Amino acid sequence: KRPAGAPDRSLARPVNKVGIVGAGLMASQLALLFVRRLKVPVVLTDIDQARIDKGVSYVHGEIDKLLGKGRLSADEANRLKALVSGSLDKAAFADADFVIEAVFEELSVKQQVFAEVEQHVGEHAILATNTSSLSITEMASKLAHPERVVGFHFFNPVAVLPLLEIVRGERTDDAALATAFAVGKQLKKSSVLVSDAPAFVVNRLLTRFLGEVLAAVDEGTPFEVADKALDPLGLPMSPLTLLQLVGPAVALHVAETMHQAFPDRFGVSENLTRFVQAGKTAVWQWDEKGNQTIDPEVAALWQ
Ligand code: 3HC
Repeated sequence: KRPAGAPDRSLARPVNKVGIVGAGLMASQLALLFVRRLKVPVVLTDIDQARIDKGVSYVHGEIDKLLGKGRLSADEANRLKALVSGSLDKAAFADADFVIEAVFEELSVKQQVFAEVEQHVGEHAILATNTSSLSITEMASKLAHPERVVGFHFFNPVAVLPLLEIVRGERTDDAALATAFAVGKQLKKSSVLVSDAPAFVVNRLLTRFLGEVLAAVDEGTPFEVADKALDPLGLPMSPLTLLQLVGPAVALHVAETMHQAFPDRFGVSENLTRFVQAGKTAVWQWDEKGNQTIDPEVAALWQ
């Protein structure tokens, strides 16, 4: 059954090569997913060779784990590994049909990335963005072909979580949207069409949820109490563990986007800002027996 709002699938373009801009946490998880499901060449680019090598090694390592679990044969594992490559030069995207960016969450950076990508790809290529909260319309606005830009937002861990938010910008055409839905299906994700609103749907809810837990801590509720209060609901992860998984810097960017869009409804926790500025990435720490305690440096940062 065609997902609600998806255009006729006959408009989808074939995807025989994928480009990924970025080789960090999300980008390398995306590379693994695309190569596993589409079984086509996937090329990663980043700003230096060390990051690219790290991204490619992550994908190779995960393929080895799948081999170890008996989910891939040795032949398949080797074939998939050979399909993943890295390049410092976006000219490697010349024959790519679908390029997805997962770089730093800053509009001007993403606009610059797409402007560069557009210099190298063919007219038919779709440009997708894994942005968590930024406007697809604005991201596309400076391009020669804004109609090929589509939001393609995954959730961490990408290999496990089934949801994919597909975002239509003001200028996105039906071919780009149909291709995005077709690729989502090949990736075995549950695609939903969402509007180009700040933080789309999931992160809008998540920002409220994490924001209120942080606000409770800011107001003096102990970390453990605020973070464990909802345990009886059976959430897969406590809110502050989820903050660690998402990455506090990403969560802060999304909170800032929501605050800019709706200043009367969304605030930004000063403590979260201080936490990110101090370079902290985790609230909780675990000892070798699995006991969970608050990182004392984090506790000291909170005022
Ligand atoms: N990467 C890859 N695979 C992972 C993983 C990771 N980080 N964490 C767990 N997995 C895999 C495991 O390998 C295992 O796979 P298998 O069954 O094939 O062996 C499977 O997931 C289950 O893992 P576990 O049994 O170890 O752990 P849990 O059952 O506790 O599940 C979890 C772990 C899936 C991470 C679960 O805790 C969960 O769903 N947490 C909530 C995550 C969430 O809400 N993410 C969305 C964040 S929002 C976002 O990403 C948007 C962004 O824009 C901010």
